[in-house]
Amino acid sequence: MKITSSEFIISAVDKDQYPKDNLPQIVFSGRSNVGKSSFINSLLNIKNFARVSQTPGKTRLINFFLINKSFYLVDIPGYGYAKVSQAQMVHFATMIDEYLKSKQASLAVLLLDIRRMPNEDDLLMYNFFKSFGYDVLMILTKADKLSNNQINKQKKIIRDTIQPRDNDQMIEYSIQSKVNHDLIWDIIESYIGD
Ligand code: GTP
Ligand code: MG
Repeated sequence: MKITSSEFIISAVDKDQYPKDNLPQIVFSGRSNVGKSSFINSLLNIKNFARVSQTPGKTRLINFFLINKSFYLVDIPGYGYAKVSQAQMVHFATMIDEYLKSKQASLAVLLLDIRRMPNEDDLLMYNFFKSFGYDVLMILTKADKLSNNQINKQKKIIRDTIQPRDNDQMIEYSIQSKVNHDLIWDIIESYIGD
């Protein structure tokens, strides 16, 4: 996909603030520090569009980006970070639940660090998407940190842990090599009917 425009629209806390124009939405989520902002920037070929931070858990609101004036990329808060309070955790969960319930998106992109075993939070998020009726595209980030051999081993471990449905794809990515960049766009495009 050729990106002609990317605009930050709003950081929403509740549903009254969601865009009301019925354009398709693709939702992105992942554990804190998984590389979500980097991935979004890399997909859009833009530096520092979605904030890249060294401090885990910086993205705490539902951020709507309008791409090519034709669909939204929706960045929901990173989950499972140790440094937030229980009250904040509940607030995030409620906010995410409210967004997913609104069914504005049909594809959820779940980011997983290719080097790590998915944890309970990752599984919870996958099942959350599933229960709300979303198809899930799993992006395995930071693939440049592993050899091809290790990539295949990790993919198997991650697959065995998540046990995805047949139509939920799992694709490795690296912001350095941009491996699978076009394939990922092809999948996203198939959901936005461009
Ligand atoms: P929060 O918003 O803070 O939860 O983090 P995030 O998931 O948005 O991660 P972010 O994009 O800020 O990246 C976290 C760290 O991982 C940064 O130091 C990135 O440079 C690094 N990183 C992200 N993607 C890759 C990748 O493909 N390869 C390598 N080597 N590093 C990456
Ligand atoms: Mg981020």
